[in-house]
Amino acid sequence: MDHQLIQRAAEDILNSKKTIAFTGAGISVESGIPDFRGAQGLWQKYDPEEYAHIHAFYSNPDRVWLMLKDMFSLIMTAKPNPAHMGLAELERMGYLSSVITQNVDGLHQAAGSRNVIEFHGTHRTLSCLKCSTTIDGTSLKMEDLPPRCSRCSSLLKPDIVFFGESIPWEAQVLSFKESKSCSVVLSIGTSAVVYPAASIPMTAKERGAIVIEINMEPTPLTDQISDYLISGSAGEIIPAIVDQVKRSSKPR
Ligand code: APR
Repeated sequence: MDHQLIQRAAEDILNSKKTIAFTGAGISVESGIPDFRGAQGLWQKYDPEEYAHIHAFYSNPDRVWLMLKDMFSLIMTAKPNPAHMGLAELERMGYLSSVITQNVDGLHQAAGSRNVIEFHGTHRTLSCLKCSTTIDGTSLKMEDLPPRCSRCSSLLKPDIVFFGESIPWEAQVLSFKESKSCSVVLSIGTSAVVYPAASIPMTAKERGAIVIEINMEPTPLTDQISDYLISGSAGEIIPAIVDQVKRSSKPR
C-alpha cells in the first residue's frame, strides 16, 4: 500500500468542498461476495448474456433464478467489511456527501452509510411483472424458486437492473447531480466498463473534480480520467485513508 498516496488522498478529502464515493463489486469481495469480471467472478461461471439480460429473465426465468439464488445466498450472509465501515465513518465525520453504488447487496447501508444511491437497484425487494406487487426479498426462501406473486401468481423479478433495462430514474438524477457538484470522487472496486454508471467519475472529472481510484488493478479510468490509482484492497486502503484523515483533521 502506497503510504504517500494514502496521505495525498487524505489531504484531497480534507481540502475538498464535497467528496463522493462511486463503488463497484470489488468493495464487497472482502465480504465474501465475488465480483463479476475478476478471476473468480460471477461472469466466469455464468454468461451474462444468458443469465443477466432482461430478455434471458423473460425467456428462461428458471435458469436465471439459478444464478440469482447463487448470488442472493452469498448476499444474505454477507457482512460489511472495513471498506464499507470506513466510508460510513467518513460520512459521519462530515467528509463524504454520498455513496453511489453499482452493488445491490445493501452493505453500505448495513455499515451505517445514510446517503446511498443504488444505481443498479437492490436485492432487498422483488416486484411482480404483472400486478407490480412488491415483496421483501430479504425473507425469500431459496427453495421455492422461481418465486411467484401471491396475488396473481405471475413471475416475481428482483428489483436489480438487468442488462437491457434502464437505470432507475431517481438514481440517475441524484447520481449525476452529485457527480456534477463534487470536488473529489473516490472510485472504489469497479472495472468502470459498464455504462451509464462508468460515466459518473468521468462527469465529475469534466467539471474539475479530483478522481482517486482504489482498485486491485488499473482500469480504463486509470490513464484517462483518474488523478491517481491506489493499488490494493479496499478493505485495507479505505481504513488507512480514514485514519490519516482523523490524524490530520480539525473538527468540522
Ligand atoms: N479491493 C479493491 N478492488 C477490488 C477488490 C478489492 N478487494 N477485489 C476486486 N477488485 C476490483 C477488480 O480488480 C475490478 O476492477 O474491483 C473491480 C470489480 O469489477 P467488476 O467485477 O467488473 O464489477 P463492477 O465494476 O461493479 O461491475 C459493474 O457490471 O455486471 C455488471 O451490474 C453489474 O454492477 C455491475 C456492473
